[in-house]
Amino acid sequence: MKFQERVFSGMQPTGSLHLGNYLGAMLKWIDLQKTHDCIYCVVDLHAITVWQDPAGLRQAIRQVTAAYIAAGLDPEKSILFNQSQVSAHAELAWVFNCVARLGWLNRMTQFKEKAGKDRENASVGLYAYPNLMAADILAYRATHVPVGDDQKQHLELSRDIAQKFNNDFSDQIKVAGYEEGEFFPLPEPVITGPATRVMSLRDGSRKMSKSEPSEMSRINLTDDNDTIAKKVRKAKTDPAPLPSEVEGLSGRPEAENLVGIFAALSGSEKAEVLAEFGGRQFSEFKSALAELCVAQLGPIAEEARRRMQDPDEIDRILVNGADRARQLAQPILSEVKDILGFVRPGS
Ligand code: TRP
Repeated sequence: MKFQERVFSGMQPTGSLHLGNYLGAMLKWIDLQKTHDCIYCVVDLHAITVWQDPAGLRQAIRQVTAAYIAAGLDPEKSILFNQSQVSAHAELAWVFNCVARLGWLNRMTQFKEKAGKDRENASVGLYAYPNLMAADILAYRATHVPVGDDQKQHLELSRDIAQKFNNDFSDQIKVAGYEEGEFFPLPEPVITGPATRVMSLRDGSRKMSKSEPSEMSRINLTDDNDTIAKKVRKAKTDPAPLPSEVEGLSGRPEAENLVGIFAALSGSEKAEVLAEFGGRQFSEFKSALAELCVAQLGPIAEEARRRMQDPDEIDRILVNGADRARQLAQPILSEVKDILGFVRPGS
Protein backbone atom coordinates (compact mmCIF):
# COMPACT_ATOMS: atom_id res chain seq x y z
CA MET A 1 0.00 0.00 0.00
CA LYS A 2 1.12 3.49 -0.66
CA PHE A 3 0.37 5.92 2.14
CA GLN A 4 -1.35 9.12 1.23
CA GLU A 5 1.16 11.96 1.47
CA ARG A 6 0.62 14.06 4.55
CA VAL A 7 2.86 16.66 6.18
CA PHE A 8 3.17 17.06 9.95
CA SER A 9 5.44 19.31 11.93
CA GLY A 10 5.62 20.83 15.37
CA MET A 11 6.94 24.11 16.72
CA GLN A 12 7.87 24.87 20.29
CA PRO A 13 5.78 27.59 21.92
CA THR A 14 8.43 30.20 22.43
CA GLY A 15 7.55 33.86 22.11
CA SER A 16 10.82 34.84 20.50
CA LEU A 17 10.96 33.62 16.93
CA HIS A 18 13.94 34.87 14.91
CA LEU A 19 15.24 35.03 11.35
CA GLY A 20 16.66 31.50 11.70
CA ASN A 21 13.19 30.11 12.46
CA TYR A 22 11.72 32.11 9.60
CA LEU A 23 14.17 31.03 6.90
CA GLY A 24 14.84 27.57 8.29
CA ALA A 25 11.31 26.37 9.04
CA MET A 26 8.45 28.80 8.54
CA LEU A 27 9.01 29.48 4.84
CA LYS A 28 9.24 25.77 4.10
CA TRP A 29 6.06 24.99 6.03
CA ILE A 30 4.21 27.75 4.26
CA ASP A 31 5.47 26.54 0.90
CA LEU A 32 4.38 22.94 1.55
CA GLN A 33 0.78 24.12 1.90
CA LYS A 34 0.69 24.56 -1.87
CA THR A 35 1.38 20.91 -2.58
CA HIS A 36 0.32 18.92 0.51
CA ASP A 37 -2.23 18.43 3.24
CA CYS A 38 -0.41 19.90 6.21
CA ILE A 39 -0.87 19.61 9.96
CA TYR A 40 1.06 22.09 12.10
CA CYS A 41 1.11 21.72 15.85
CA VAL A 42 2.19 24.04 18.66
CA VAL A 43 3.82 21.45 20.91
CA ASP A 44 2.86 22.56 24.40
CA LEU A 45 3.17 19.03 25.80
CA HIS A 46 6.79 18.99 24.65
CA ALA A 47 7.38 22.42 26.17
CA ILE A 48 6.66 21.28 29.74
CA THR A 49 9.46 18.69 29.64
CA VAL A 50 11.39 21.61 31.14
CA TRP A 51 9.81 24.05 33.60
CA GLN A 52 7.56 26.69 32.03
CA ASP A 53 6.00 29.63 33.75
CA PRO A 54 2.25 29.01 33.12
CA ALA A 55 1.32 32.59 32.19
CA GLY A 56 4.35 32.79 29.91
CA LEU A 57 3.47 29.48 28.27
CA ARG A 58 -0.09 30.60 27.50
CA GLN A 59 1.23 33.82 25.99
CA ALA A 60 3.87 31.97 23.96
CA ILE A 61 1.32 29.53 22.50
CA ARG A 62 -0.70 32.47 21.21
CA GLN A 63 2.36 34.35 20.03
CA VAL A 64 3.80 31.54 17.98
CA THR A 65 0.36 30.94 16.46
CA ALA A 66 0.02 34.62 15.57
CA ALA A 67 3.52 34.73 14.05
CA TYR A 68 3.00 31.70 11.84
CA ILE A 69 -0.32 33.02 10.57
CA ALA A 70 1.25 36.44 10.00
CA ALA A 71 4.03 34.81 7.98
CA GLY A 72 1.50 33.09 5.70
CA LEU A 73 0.37 29.87 7.34
CA ASP A 74 -3.28 29.57 6.33
CA PRO A 75 -5.35 28.05 9.16
CA GLU A 76 -8.28 27.41 6.82
CA LYS A 77 -6.26 25.33 4.44
CA SER A 78 -3.84 23.67 6.85
CA ILE A 79 -4.62 22.39 10.32
CA LEU A 80 -3.09 24.57 13.04
CA PHE A 81 -3.62 23.69 16.71
CA ASN A 82 -1.94 23.17 20.04
CA GLN A 83 -1.02 19.64 21.03
CA SER A 84 -2.64 19.41 24.49
CA GLN A 85 -6.13 19.84 23.00
CA VAL A 86 -5.91 16.52 21.18
CA SER A 87 -5.55 13.69 23.68
CA ALA A 88 -4.52 11.19 20.99
CA HIS A 89 -0.97 12.58 21.22
CA ALA A 90 -0.58 11.66 24.88
CA GLU A 91 -2.40 8.34 24.48
CA LEU A 92 -0.32 7.15 21.56
CA ALA A 93 2.86 8.41 23.29
CA TRP A 94 2.13 6.01 26.16
CA VAL A 95 1.81 3.14 23.73
CA PHE A 96 5.13 4.15 22.16
CA ASN A 97 6.74 4.33 25.62
CA CYS A 98 6.07 0.61 25.61
CA VAL A 99 7.36 0.05 22.05
CA ALA A 100 10.60 2.07 22.14
CA ARG A 101 13.58 0.51 23.95
CA LEU A 102 15.67 2.17 26.66
CA GLY A 103 18.73 1.56 24.51
CA TRP A 104 17.24 3.61 21.68
CA LEU A 105 16.50 6.61 23.88
CA ASN A 106 19.91 6.39 25.55
CA ARG A 107 21.45 7.27 22.20
CA MET A 108 19.54 10.55 21.77
CA THR A 109 22.08 13.37 21.67
CA GLN A 110 19.54 16.10 22.33
CA PHE A 111 18.60 14.59 25.68
CA LYS A 112 22.25 14.47 26.69
CA GLU A 113 22.68 18.11 25.71
CA LYS A 114 19.50 19.33 27.37
CA ALA A 115 19.89 17.28 30.55
CA GLY A 116 23.51 18.38 30.89
CA LYS A 117 25.51 17.16 33.86
CA ASP A 118 22.62 16.86 36.26
CA ARG A 119 20.90 13.97 34.50
CA GLU A 120 19.38 12.57 37.69
CA ASN A 121 17.36 15.75 37.95
CA ALA A 122 16.02 15.85 34.37
CA SER A 123 12.28 15.13 34.01
CA VAL A 124 11.18 11.70 32.80
CA GLY A 125 9.27 13.62 30.13
CA LEU A 126 12.48 15.10 28.73
CA TYR A 127 13.84 11.57 28.36
CA ALA A 128 10.67 10.24 26.70
CA TYR A 129 10.30 13.36 24.51
CA PRO A 130 11.17 11.54 21.25
CA ASN A 131 8.41 8.99 21.84
CA LEU A 132 5.86 11.80 22.08
CA MET A 133 7.26 13.25 18.87
CA ALA A 134 6.76 9.89 17.13
CA ALA A 135 3.19 9.87 18.43
CA ASP A 136 2.59 13.38 17.07
CA ILE A 137 3.56 12.27 13.59
CA LEU A 138 2.10 8.77 13.52
CA ALA A 139 -1.26 9.72 15.08
CA TYR A 140 -1.96 11.17 11.63
CA ARG A 141 0.06 8.64 9.62
CA ALA A 142 2.07 11.60 8.37
CA THR A 143 4.62 10.72 5.69
CA HIS A 144 6.68 13.91 5.43
CA VAL A 145 8.09 15.94 8.30
CA PRO A 146 9.81 19.28 7.68
CA VAL A 147 12.40 19.72 10.44
CA GLY A 148 15.79 21.27 11.11
CA ASP A 149 18.76 18.95 10.91
CA ASP A 150 18.95 18.85 14.72
CA GLN A 151 15.75 16.75 14.62
CA LYS A 152 17.00 14.09 12.21
CA GLN A 153 17.89 11.64 14.97
CA HIS A 154 14.44 11.98 16.55
CA LEU A 155 12.87 11.26 13.20
CA GLU A 156 14.96 8.13 12.77
CA LEU A 157 13.62 7.01 16.14
CA SER A 158 10.07 7.64 14.87
CA ARG A 159 10.78 5.31 11.97
CA ASP A 160 12.19 2.67 14.31
CA ILE A 161 9.08 2.89 16.48
CA ALA A 162 6.75 2.66 13.46
CA GLN A 163 8.65 -0.34 12.16
CA LYS A 164 8.73 -2.16 15.49
CA PHE A 165 5.00 -1.60 15.97
CA ASN A 166 4.35 -2.88 12.44
CA ASN A 167 6.44 -6.01 13.16
CA ASP A 168 5.36 -6.73 16.74
CA PHE A 169 1.69 -6.71 15.77
CA SER A 170 1.90 -7.95 12.19
CA ASP A 171 -0.78 -10.64 12.70
CA GLN A 172 -3.31 -8.23 14.18
CA ILE A 173 -2.45 -5.65 11.53
CA LYS A 174 -3.29 -8.21 8.86
CA VAL A 175 -6.57 -9.06 10.57
CA ALA A 176 -7.39 -5.35 10.56
CA GLY A 177 -7.12 -5.47 6.78
CA TYR A 178 -3.66 -4.05 6.17
CA GLU A 179 -0.84 -5.45 4.07
CA GLU A 180 2.02 -7.12 5.92
CA GLY A 181 3.68 -4.61 8.24
CA GLU A 182 2.00 -1.56 6.81
CA PHE A 183 0.01 0.01 9.59
CA PHE A 184 2.27 3.01 10.19
CA PRO A 185 4.26 4.71 7.43
CA LEU A 186 7.97 5.35 8.01
CA PRO A 187 7.99 9.17 8.07
CA GLU A 188 10.65 11.01 6.10
CA PRO A 189 12.41 14.23 7.06
CA VAL A 190 12.11 17.12 4.63
CA ILE A 191 15.28 19.15 5.10
CA THR A 192 15.68 21.63 2.30
CA GLY A 193 15.82 25.31 1.50
CA PRO A 194 18.74 27.59 0.86
CA ALA A 195 19.11 28.78 4.42
CA THR A 196 18.29 25.85 6.68
CA ARG A 197 21.22 27.02 8.77
CA VAL A 198 21.18 30.69 9.63
CA MET A 199 24.17 31.54 11.77
CA SER A 200 24.64 34.04 14.59
CA LEU A 201 25.38 37.61 13.49
CA ARG A 202 28.19 37.71 16.07
CA ASP A 203 29.81 34.36 15.27
CA GLY A 204 29.48 32.70 11.87
CA SER A 205 30.26 29.27 13.31
CA ARG A 206 27.25 29.10 15.65
CA LYS A 207 23.59 28.75 14.78
CA MET A 208 21.34 31.76 15.31
CA SER A 209 19.57 30.85 18.53
CA LYS A 210 17.21 32.33 21.05
CA SER A 211 19.42 31.04 23.85
CA GLU A 212 22.48 33.05 22.84
CA PRO A 213 22.78 35.87 25.43
CA SER A 214 23.56 38.68 22.97
CA GLU A 215 20.45 40.22 21.39
CA MET A 216 22.73 41.47 18.61
CA SER A 217 23.32 37.89 17.49
CA ARG A 218 19.83 37.46 16.05
CA ILE A 219 17.03 39.33 14.29
CA ASN A 220 13.76 38.70 16.09
CA LEU A 221 10.52 38.62 14.16
CA THR A 222 9.27 41.23 16.62
CA ASP A 223 12.14 43.71 16.12
CA ASP A 224 11.17 47.11 14.78
CA ASN A 225 12.74 48.46 11.62
CA ASP A 226 15.45 50.53 13.33
CA THR A 227 16.53 47.58 15.44
CA ILE A 228 16.72 45.29 12.41
CA ALA A 229 18.82 47.84 10.50
CA LYS A 230 21.15 48.35 13.45
CA LYS A 231 21.72 44.62 13.95
CA VAL A 232 22.56 44.11 10.28
CA ARG A 233 24.90 47.12 10.25
CA LYS A 234 26.74 45.81 13.33
CA ALA A 235 26.92 42.19 12.17
CA LYS A 236 30.42 40.75 12.36
CA THR A 237 32.33 40.63 9.06
CA ASP A 238 35.93 40.51 7.89
CA PRO A 239 37.84 43.41 6.31
CA ALA A 240 37.98 42.12 2.72
CA PRO A 241 35.36 43.16 0.15
CA LEU A 242 32.80 40.59 -1.01
CA PRO A 243 34.16 37.95 -3.39
CA SER A 244 32.63 37.62 -6.83
CA GLU A 245 32.42 33.80 -6.76
CA VAL A 246 30.82 31.43 -4.25
CA GLU A 247 34.19 29.65 -3.77
CA GLY A 248 35.56 32.90 -2.37
CA LEU A 249 33.23 32.55 0.64
CA SER A 250 34.98 29.48 2.00
CA GLY A 251 36.81 30.22 5.22
CA ARG A 252 34.71 33.38 5.65
CA PRO A 253 31.75 32.11 7.70
CA GLU A 254 30.32 35.55 8.56
CA ALA A 255 30.39 36.68 4.93
CA GLU A 256 28.89 33.39 3.82
CA ASN A 257 26.09 33.73 6.37
CA LEU A 258 25.11 37.25 5.31
CA VAL A 259 25.19 36.34 1.63
CA GLY A 260 23.11 33.24 2.40
CA ILE A 261 20.53 35.33 4.27
CA PHE A 262 20.36 37.80 1.38
CA ALA A 263 19.87 34.96 -1.11
CA ALA A 264 17.16 33.29 0.97
CA LEU A 265 15.23 36.51 1.57
CA SER A 266 15.37 37.53 -2.07
CA GLY A 267 14.57 34.04 -3.35
CA SER A 268 17.84 33.82 -5.29
CA GLU A 269 21.16 31.96 -5.10
CA LYS A 270 24.41 33.00 -3.44
CA ALA A 271 26.04 33.15 -6.88
CA GLU A 272 23.47 35.68 -8.08
CA VAL A 273 23.97 37.80 -4.97
CA LEU A 274 27.73 37.79 -5.52
CA ALA A 275 27.29 38.61 -9.21
CA GLU A 276 25.68 41.82 -8.01
CA PHE A 277 27.79 42.63 -4.93
CA GLY A 278 31.16 40.98 -5.66
CA GLY A 279 34.04 43.40 -5.16
CA ARG A 280 31.95 45.83 -3.09
CA GLN A 281 32.45 46.76 0.54
CA PHE A 282 30.37 45.26 3.32
CA SER A 283 28.97 48.66 4.29
CA GLU A 284 27.18 48.88 0.98
CA PHE A 285 26.03 45.25 1.04
CA LYS A 286 24.76 45.60 4.59
CA SER A 287 22.56 48.59 3.70
CA ALA A 288 20.93 46.54 0.96
CA LEU A 289 20.55 43.56 3.32
CA ALA A 290 19.03 45.72 6.06
CA GLU A 291 16.52 47.11 3.60
CA LEU A 292 15.59 43.61 2.46
CA CYS A 293 15.16 42.36 6.05
CA VAL A 294 12.98 45.31 6.98
CA ALA A 295 10.85 44.92 3.86
CA GLN A 296 10.23 41.20 4.50
CA LEU A 297 10.03 40.98 8.27
CA GLY A 298 8.48 44.34 9.11
CA PRO A 299 4.99 43.50 7.78
CA ILE A 300 5.04 40.08 9.48
CA ALA A 301 5.93 41.57 12.85
CA GLU A 302 3.20 44.16 12.44
CA GLU A 303 0.55 41.62 11.50
CA ALA A 304 1.55 39.35 14.40
CA ARG A 305 1.25 42.28 16.82
CA ARG A 306 -2.15 43.13 15.39
CA ARG A 307 -3.35 39.55 15.89
CA MET A 308 -2.10 39.50 19.47
CA GLN A 309 -4.58 42.31 20.21
CA ASP A 310 -7.34 39.73 19.80
CA PRO A 311 -6.34 36.60 21.74
CA ASP A 312 -9.92 35.24 21.65
CA GLU A 313 -9.70 35.00 17.87
CA ILE A 314 -6.38 33.15 18.12
CA ASP A 315 -7.93 30.73 20.62
CA ARG A 316 -10.87 30.11 18.28
CA ILE A 317 -8.46 29.22 15.49
CA LEU A 318 -6.66 26.75 17.76
CA VAL A 319 -9.92 25.16 18.95
CA ASN A 320 -11.09 24.77 15.38
CA GLY A 321 -7.76 23.27 14.31
CA ALA A 322 -7.87 20.86 17.26
CA ASP A 323 -11.37 19.70 16.25
CA ARG A 324 -10.16 18.91 12.75
CA ALA A 325 -7.01 17.20 14.04
CA ARG A 326 -9.03 15.04 16.45
CA GLN A 327 -11.21 13.81 13.61
CA LEU A 328 -8.15 12.53 11.79
CA ALA A 329 -6.36 11.02 14.79
CA GLN A 330 -9.31 9.40 16.56
CA PRO A 331 -9.98 6.57 14.06
CA ILE A 332 -6.27 5.74 13.85
CA LEU A 333 -6.02 5.61 17.64
CA SER A 334 -9.08 3.34 17.82
CA GLU A 335 -7.44 0.93 15.38
CA VAL A 336 -4.28 0.96 17.50
CA LYS A 337 -6.35 0.05 20.56
CA ASP A 338 -7.97 -2.84 18.72
CA ILE A 339 -4.60 -4.08 17.46
CA LEU A 340 -3.20 -4.00 21.02
CA GLY A 341 -6.17 -5.97 22.37
CA PHE A 342 -7.79 -3.24 24.42
CA VAL A 343 -11.54 -3.35 25.01
CA ARG A 344 -13.51 -0.27 23.96
CA PRO A 345 -17.05 0.50 22.80
CA GLY A 346 -17.57 -1.41 19.56
CA SER A 347 -14.46 -3.58 19.83
N1 TRP B 1 11.10 18.42 18.59
C1 TRP B 1 10.79 19.45 17.63
C2 TRP B 1 11.70 20.64 17.85
O1 TRP B 1 12.21 20.83 18.93
C3 TRP B 1 9.35 19.88 17.72
C4 TRP B 1 8.40 18.75 17.43
C5 TRP B 1 7.60 18.11 18.31
C6 TRP B 1 8.18 18.15 16.17
N2 TRP B 1 6.86 17.15 17.69
C7 TRP B 1 7.20 17.14 16.38
C8 TRP B 1 8.71 18.37 14.90
C9 TRP B 1 6.76 16.33 15.33
C10 TRP B 1 8.27 17.56 13.86
C11 TRP B 1 7.30 16.54 14.08
O2 TRP B 1 11.89 21.43 16.94
